[in-house]
Amino acid sequence: TSQTSSSSSSSLPPPASHFIGRKEDIVKAGRVTKLVNGCRDVLVLYHQGQLYAMDMHCYHSGGALKNGDIEEFNGLLCIVCPWHKYKITLEGGEGLYQAVDDPLAKPLRTHWRSKGVKQRIHKVTEVNGDVFVTLNESGEAIESDVYQTEKYRTSFLKA
Ligand code: FES
Repeated sequence: TSQTSSSSSSSLPPPASHFIGRKEDIVKAGRVTKLVNGCRDVLVLYHQGQLYAMDMHCYHSGGALKNGDIEEFNGLLCIVCPWHKYKITLEGGEGLYQAVDDPLAKPLRTHWRSKGVKQRIHKVTEVNGDVFVTLNESGEAIESDVYQTEKYRTSFLKA
């Protein structure tokens, strides 16, 4: 699978990865949030046999993605932000929107389109039942980065 590395061939976590928890606990909880490496608020979630990790604050306005439902749009699994219902693909962090084919047609016909990568996705690795996250440190700016500042975390915790 693309997001979760298999544990079968290795007994060591990847370099620069961070321990999140035991897989059985994450599976039971469904979602776990953690401040990784003292610098990044990450959501790790388990869905249909697969682990995913992403920035935990929604790229739109910082909504708590850990409370979002998971639904499929156009065959893509998405977390739906509970705040304004933005859809974010679990695999790639792409924001999806519903495009109208022809604004004059009745009834309106729509289809799902990508706005590009909006939410930073991190790599999950499982080793002997332990789950690790490797932060995606790509230098490219991603919109969800905005909600990772110290200031935001402070106001978020007070809210
Ligand atoms: Fe997530 Fe607005 S904060 S949809």
